[in-house]
Amino acid sequence: MAGTGSRDKTQKRPLKTLERVLSKAGIGSRTEARSWIGAGRVRVNGKTVRDPDHWVDLERDRVAFDGKPVRSEQKIYLLLNKPKGYLTTYRDPEGRETVYDLLGDSLPYVSPVGRLDMDTSGLLLLTNDTQFAERLTNPEYKAPKTYLVKAGGILSEESLARLCEGVELRDGLTLPAEVKRLRDTGTCTFVEMTIREGRNRQVRRMMEAVGSKVLKLVRTKIGDIEIGGLEIGKYRELTAAEVKGLMEGRSVSRPDRGGHRASGRV
Ligand code: URA
Repeated sequence: MAGTGSRDKTQKRPLKTLERVLSKAGIGSRTEARSWIGAGRVRVNGKTVRDPDHWVDLERDRVAFDGKPVRSEQKIYLLLNKPKGYLTTYRDPEGRETVYDLLGDSLPYVSPVGRLDMDTSGLLLLTNDTQFAERLTNPEYKAPKTYLVKAGGILSEESLARLCEGVELRDGLTLPAEVKRLRDTGTCTFVEMTIREGRNRQVRRMMEAVGSKVLKLVRTKIGDIEIGGLEIGKYRELTAAEVKGLMEGRSVSRPDRGGHRASGRV
């Protein structure tokens, strides 16, 4: 019977193990879910359940994680304007602020779609739709992500051309980037840069590879979705059309390596 830890295979109720309910809700991996359940952080119908294989009836049972309801069937897609200084993780052992501090308590659990460094601000998508997250983070999909970069020093045309072609990092050659010089000041260069991968600290490392250093990094766009005028620290839900557009990759062009040029440099 559902919710009691044993399963009657003849019945047609929508059953899932507790571990699956948490991972499907986008809260974390199955391994993480098992450890949270074991640690007594999950309740079913008000009672702590420590067995990850406990059967849950999705229509009837109420599952809560750290006291918050887990509603795995309601899909939610958020666009947050992440401030600098916030971590993209769920909880920080050192007690630093995380993006979850900016989300209301009434929301179901959502996970970040990819990560932004603590010092990066701007557009962060969060969802409990694992298919959506997988689609956008899958390297095959090559979702374009656009950043405003303040880079130390005056970047030469040659350096910009190298970024456009792709640079060698310790984890291999990057795909070509689109790079547009916005302006130079006496000591730094502002560029807009679009990349189609999501490697760890990729923009920072690409800048280092051409002898510069990122002084400020803001993500402004993923696919067709722009941060627009959304206030820093605030979030909004994506529209159904925006979700569909991202899923279908309408904005995704798939250029071949070497097919890019720096555009619109001034
Ligand atoms: N590239 C980086 O270096 N950092 C980010 O946060 C995102 C992309």
